[in-house]
Amino acid sequence: MNDADVRARIQTLRDALTEHNHKYYVLDEPSIPDAEYDRLFHELVALEEKHPDLKSPDSPTQRVGGDVLSAFEEVEHVVPMLSLDNVFDEDGLRDFEQRIKSRLGSDAPLVFACEPKLDGIAISLLYERGLLVRAATRGDGKRGEDITNNVKTIASVPLRLRGSDWPDELEVRGEIYMPRAGFEKMNAAARAKDEKVFVNPRNAAAGSLRQLDSKITASRPLELGVYGVALRGDKSPFNCHSENLNALAKWGFRVSPELRTVKGADGCLDYYEYLLNKRDALPYDIDGIVFKVDSIDLQRKLGFVSRAPRWAVAHKFPAQEEMTLLRDVEFQVGRTGAITPVARLEPVFVGGVTVSNATLHNFDEIQRLDVRVGDTVIIRRAGDVIPQVVQVVAEKRPSDAKIIEMPTHCPVCGSESERVEGEAVTRCTGGLICAAQRSQAIKHFASRKAMDIEGLGDKIVEVLVERELIKHPGDLFSLDRDTLSGLERMGQKSAQNLLDALEKSKATSLQRFIYSLGIREVGEATALNLAQHFGNIDAIMNASQEALLEVSDVGPIVASHIEHFFAEAHNREVIEALIAAGVHWPDIEVKDPSELPLAGQTWVVTGTLESMTRDEAKAKLQALGAKVAGSVSAKTTSLVAGASAGSKLTKAEKLGVEVIDEKAFLTLLQEHSI
Ligand code: IVH
Repeated sequence: MNDADVRARIQTLRDALTEHNHKYYVLDEPSIPDAEYDRLFHELVALEEKHPDLKSPDSPTQRVGGDVLSAFEEVEHVVPMLSLDNVFDEDGLRDFEQRIKSRLGSDAPLVFACEPKLDGIAISLLYERGLLVRAATRGDGKRGEDITNNVKTIASVPLRLRGSDWPDELEVRGEIYMPRAGFEKMNAAARAKDEKVFVNPRNAAAGSLRQLDSKITASRPLELGVYGVALRGDKSPFNCHSENLNALAKWGFRVSPELRTVKGADGCLDYYEYLLNKRDALPYDIDGIVFKVDSIDLQRKLGFVSRAPRWAVAHKFPAQEEMTLLRDVEFQVGRTGAITPVARLEPVFVGGVTVSNATLHNFDEIQRLDVRVGDTVIIRRAGDVIPQVVQVVAEKRPSDAKIIEMPTHCPVCGSESERVEGEAVTRCTGGLICAAQRSQAIKHFASRKAMDIEGLGDKIVEVLVERELIKHPGDLFSLDRDTLSGLERMGQKSAQNLLDALEKSKATSLQRFIYSLGIREVGEATALNLAQHFGNIDAIMNASQEALLEVSDVGPIVASHIEHFFAEAHNREVIEALIAAGVHWPDIEVKDPSELPLAGQTWVVTGTLESMTRDEAKAKLQALGAKVAGSVSAKTTSLVAGASAGSKLTKAEKLGVEVIDEKAFLTLLQEHSI
């Protein structure tokens, strides 16, 4: 490419990326797949690196963050940033309207622009000749901090204005916020890594903007919503506030889709009801509504009092965070056996409803918050998310506050609880008998790859468990025709079919039986390896940690799950009941590893297999005595190549390693009855 071509290509890429960005982040209408966006982006990065003289401050590549600052510089706002007066009820709002009318000396109806009050961080963006030159925090209203580098990383902030009818100098006012989904995701990731968790999206947005390293800001899910313009000398592009906002949308900003103009306080009250009802369904936090006199001319006449305009007011919503007393902590067991601490609270009105329970997630969270029974805590309830305890008010702790401990036994079934190192969750080990986990355990037991009980679908299992006709998988085999045919939508014929299927399922294999027990992290592949290694169920049930660790594919975590499972007397009883009911399988002759058919060989599996996952294929090869490696080398005996195999296949062919396809692989497995 010659210089002119490079220049043209760079411009094409910048325009395309800016356009896609706008569609995706401002209009919420993604126009191309992410992968295509990434390709264009990387092409632009590469071209700009090769031609540094062509770099530009409004290039989409400027959004990834850059130099680390030592401090933020202080800057003066062209027009001061004001605050708002609040009202909390209808009377307050009617007084506001009346004050305006008296001041204007007119009873003429007023038009108000209504917008959500975004709960984030106020920001002022300065554009010169359409280019973003500065972004500053509110600070004391007159002077704020220059956080341009950070703000540029936010995808919904235009680096250059769209169109051309904007004033040469334009200050845009808005709010930077973190949508709830992004906030929850970020906190969940932080919790998993035992890192700092933010109390609410507003704090998360503030913390993300305060970074001296803009790369950190770039990694946070922030958005910009704008709600006004500020121009030197009190100029306004248009005659109405709502028209200014429409212009901002045209220039590339995200303006609230909830913007409306209404007549008088009555219109404002209707809008308040409308948005309050919609509050939980919005993807971001709002703490109220801002009502503004729409006419710029009237705004000028009304002016300001101290540091708030007379022409605008914030009507606050019920708070999303409130203080209350933690009366007790109880433990709930979920369908997968996870034991979750739940806070029982002195009922408190928060986020528009009365809350008396809140989640504490897990034991790490209890320790992180250092929360005790008797503490005064802060509860947050926003959107559809379950209310959470987000903070302890340390000063209010009574001397007899009680430390919370995780139960050593399951509160539902009394089995021991287990917490695997490195995991946050504490679990019940009574998988087969725990009432909380019953339907889950039985559904798994009956599933196709487990005992394969045809006709025992999820619905029937739920009904049987609900009516307490079965408590654990062993009970399935004592069901009779009368009981079954008495169930809804189950005739004599289907009852008999199910009984036949139950009978048929009794003849199974050791690996299926182990898999069907639903031991945590023991999938089909591990079940097969356990079966091949130990040969019979007693040996598996009595195996020590060390013995379990000798099985291919079993690491310390899986070994500990297996050991805990069989240590639980209840689980052993169910296994005995199943065997007593007639469930049987042939034992497997345990061979010395050196006698196995593929002993001493190293295999590699690549590509996509139709009949099984790569992990299953790996387990089957291991069961035949092969070592399974991740890459092809001269030492590889054979390569199993599934569909779309790539570089491993090429390498095997180059090295002259034997390659077999899925069909040949299945034949091999069949020959060895695996
Ligand atoms: S108008 C002169 N509109 O609320 C009027 N403010 O106390 C200035 N805010 O931190 C503000 N959403 O950043 C206005 N739709 C909205 C708003 C809004 C959020 C914030 C603003 C400031 C505070 C005002």
